[in-house]
Order: sequence, then C-alpha cells, then structure tokens
Amino acid sequence: MGTENKVRERVFSGAQPTGNMHLGNYLGAFRNWVKLQDSFECIYCVVDLHAITVFQDPKELVDQTREAAAAFLAAGIDPKESILFNQSQVPQHSELAWIFACVARMGWLNRMTQFKDKAGKNREKASVGLYAYPTLMAADILLYKASRVPVGEDQKQHLELTQDIARKFNNDFGVDYFPNVEPVITGNATRVMSLRDGTKKMSKSDPSDFSRINLTDDREAIARKIKKAKTDSEPLPDNPQALKNRPEALNLISIYSSLADVSLDEVCGRFAGLGFSPFKEALTELAIDRLGPVTEEMVRLKQDPGYVDSILRDGAARASEIAERTMAEVMEIVGLLRP
Ligand code: TRP
Repeated sequence: MGTENKVRERVFSGAQPTGNMHLGNYLGAFRNWVKLQDSFECIYCVVDLHAITVFQDPKELVDQTREAAAAFLAAGIDPKESILFNQSQVPQHSELAWIFACVARMGWLNRMTQFKDKAGKNREKASVGLYAYPTLMAADILLYKASRVPVGEDQKQHLELTQDIARKFNNDFGVDYFPNVEPVITGNATRVMSLRDGTKKMSKSDPSDFSRINLTDDREAIARKIKKAKTDSEPLPDNPQALKNRPEALNLISIYSSLADVSLDEVCGRFAGLGFSPFKEALTELAIDRLGPVTEEMVRLKQDPGYVDSILRDGAARASEIAERTMAEVMEIVGLLRP
C-alpha cells in the first residue's frame, strides 16, 4: 500500500503482556487494530511497564511480552507497515510519564474507577505505579501525538484523563502542543464472555480452560470448546433484544457476529428458530476458518523468539526517533535545561 494516500493521522494503542492471549484479546483488540493499518499510521505497543504496576515474575514477564507481540503479529499486524515494540525499550515513555505526573492532579486520579477496582479494599498496599498508571498511558499516546486510540469501553476514562492532561499541559505552558485525542471504541464483541458463564468476561485466569479459546489452541481444541460451551434450552431468537436475559446465547451470537463481521440482527435473522446444535456447528466452522490461521501462526511465532525479538528491536528504533523528538521539545517547553 502506498503511504502517499494515507491519512497522516496517527493511531496508538497498547496491550498488557498478561500471558495466555485468548479470543477476547483478539476480537476486542488486535483484530480491530489490524484493520486500522489500512488508513492510518499505526503504533502498537506491548506495555510491559504497565504490567509491573502489579508484581510480575521477571522470567514470565519476558515470555509474556514475546507472547503478546506474537499475538499482534499472528492477528495480522504488519511490522513493516506499522510500528510494533515493547514500551520499556523506549525510555521516553517513563520520562514523559513523570512530567505528566506533575501536570495531572490528585483529584483527577482519585476518580479513576480502574484503580479503585484493582486496588480494592487494600488501597494502602497498592503500588504508587498502579495509582499513576493513567499518567503513563497518557505519555504512551502523547509521546507520538497520536490522535486516535482504539480501546475497550473500560479504558475510556483513562483516555478522558489523557485529554485533560494534554489540555492542562498546553494551558499551563501557553502552547498548542499536544493534539486532541479521540477514543475509537471498536467492534461488536468488544466484550467476549466466558464460554462457561456468560456473565463473566473471558479471562486468562479462569481455572477452566474450557471457558476460553486461547490463541494457541489448535482447530480440534477450538471445536471441542465451542461444542462444550454453555447454552440455554431455548431456540435462537429472531432479534437481539430477546437475548437480554440469555447471557450465554448472547455471547455465542456476539462471537459469531464479530468473527463473520455482520450485525447481531443479521446473525439472529440467519439462525432464528434453530436450536444450538446447528448454530454451534456453523460457529465452529466459522471460528476454525477465521482463527485457525491465527492460532497456527501464533504457535509458530512462539517457537521463534529470535524473530519476535528482532521485530520488537526494529520497532523500538523507529518509535525512538519520534519519541526522542517529542521529549526534546517537551523539555524545552517545560524549561528543563539541556546544555
Ligand atoms: N491501559 C490499557 C489496557 O489495559 C493498555 C494501554 C497502555 C493503552 N497504554 C495505552 C491503550 C495507550 C491505549 C493507548 O487495556
């Protein structure tokens, strides 16, 4: 694709190296990011510095960072077209996060619901990093002056904080430096639920492996898990509104809709009145068709860490060029001497 007819707006997004990437990560994030590559200059980041806001086993963190990068690549992120790297390789993320920690107000961070959820009752024992997490996220985005940020619903508040930080920075220093940041909330099945319990998010930490489709599952495993997925005893309805109190049915239909790239209405139209058995067969065929190549590539990449590392190294070098420029300008604006 020629870069000349690309909109020069920049997209940035990040994913934590949580390990055990699954269908929820793929449909909720990676797949949407892949599509954006056609229209924008995209920078995608494995946010390992965000991961350590809660303790990570160092050996596992290294592997999980590679695994997350492998998931980006397997999903179809083109490392020549886009920039793919891990956050800690570009020190300017931390530097700008400090500047932003001085711009953001305690009152703003005190309102962050994700901190409250993650810290729980044990706030006194939460890391300072977990509290400051959104200032690092703002730094990720604004370091590249990205104006579009694809995220899930749960990150909207952090993006609003990013906007507040950009505005206050511009205001405090009397500059028009950081752009306005727009959230891009994506896709149908942005919330993929557990295959065993339609009220719980699909999660890598669910003790039952049957609750999720891993991005390393082979075709047989995908088929087995869909077959065993929880359903109810009603036939499929002819409209999505009727799925309100049927979380498992809604989840499977949402997954179908997302994989097939059609609306929930359309899926209901196709399967109205049928039982789950024929629907599951269709879903299995679709899932294997769409996910099979992704999970096979994922398995292949996991066996080639040297290749993944080389992609991250190259991505970091390209990200650094932009990041160094921004940080030099920010230091000048703030009045930090660089004789
Ligand atoms: N906080 C995001 C999440 O947990 C990950 C993230 C870090 C991010 N930095 C970002 C997302 C910048 C978008 C832009 O999902």
